[in-house]
Amino acid sequence: MPNRIALAPMTNQQSHDDGTLSDDEYNWLVRRAKENFGMIITCAANVSADGQGWKGELGIYDDKQLEGLSRLAKGIQQYGSLAVVQIFHGGARSPENLIGTQPWSASAHTMPHAKVPVEVRAAALEDISRVIADFVAAAKRAERAGFDGVELHGAHGYLLHQFLSTTTNHRTDEWGGSFDNRNRLLRTVLQKIKAVVKKDFLVGVRLSPEDKYTFQGIDFDESVALAKLLAQDGADFIHLSPWEAAKKPDKYATGDKALITFFREAIPATPIIVAGKIWKRAEAEQVINLGADIAAVGMAAIGHADWPALVKDNTTEPSHMPFTVEHLQKQGLSAPFIEYMKRWKGFVKESEK
Ligand SMILES: Cc1cc2nc3c(=O)[nH]c(=O)nc-3n(C[C@H](O)[C@H](O)[C@H](O)COP(=O)(O)O)c2cc1C
Repeated sequence: MPNRIALAPMTNQQSHDDGTLSDDEYNWLVRRAKENFGMIITCAANVSADGQGWKGELGIYDDKQLEGLSRLAKGIQQYGSLAVVQIFHGGARSPENLIGTQPWSASAHTMPHAKVPVEVRAAALEDISRVIADFVAAAKRAERAGFDGVELHGAHGYLLHQFLSTTTNHRTDEWGGSFDNRNRLLRTVLQKIKAVVKKDFLVGVRLSPEDKYTFQGIDFDESVALAKLLAQDGADFIHLSPWEAAKKPDKYATGDKALITFFREAIPATPIIVAGKIWKRAEAEQVINLGADIAAVGMAAIGHADWPALVKDNTTEPSHMPFTVEHLQKQGLSAPFIEYMKRWKGFVKESEK
């Protein structure tokens, strides 16, 4: 990487209905590679047709998506950035009207979704073996497309997280119950991918290190222990998503150690990426000082395609959200992406709505 700045993975609803890449999605990501983000991580891309989380999502479940993925990887790499695709399955959070079948998860449960609660079925053993194979096939597809690596989305309440969580995983077989059983799906996916990709193909894992929003059932100490196991399994990086990069863990809020530092000590030899409210150079430097190797920038990067240049000389402070529609257009966002960002509170300037 030319620097320690990554573009955080961000869903933008710009892909075509069949999951193939659109010019809008290409332009938004490649522009940021051109503007010197050292690593570009794509939005979450679904590994199975029944793992789609929302309309306009990038797909990586079929060879029909290969051509667009290859174009994207090349587009990013032409500017010297690492190209990483985030791969995931929505599990309980894949709406039935999109996937055409009942959503499934670790255990059966009722999920409050929009105004109508959704009945989620428990995974049969065939679902588990199928999704493992789908993750492996997706990683191989990413490799064939020329990406430098994949990031397994083990965070934010999607399928891999649902298996890790004591809230959504009440299974009594080898895929649930104890910590070792709950992390089996994520570790198996990682191990199987590592076994079939080239040595220098990166396989990282994104984790929610503790409970946040509706993503519950994660214990902080277990997360640190999990990172250690993933590092032993060969994870090339661990990407933490605490939504506030420099915070202390809620479990040890009165202590003096930042969340990142717990992970740094547990996995001294594995690169750590962290994201959450990094807007200024000093905030990126702070997370590096706390033990991270790479600062991932989300909303600030949507608002500033040239964020790496803006913070380089330490004299400019990138402006904070809200942004006007006109400003976002100049940053290379298409109309559907701007529409989507209106759903993120305080991001698009009120008067422009
Ligand atoms: C519009 C938007 C879409 C996001 N989509 C994803 C996603 O697809 N996968 C993911 O792991 N995180 C996703 N996130 C979370 C970001 O990667 C990041 O962790 C979070 O926004 C905190 O960083 P920030 O404060 O710099 O924005 C998304 C965030 C935003 C704002």
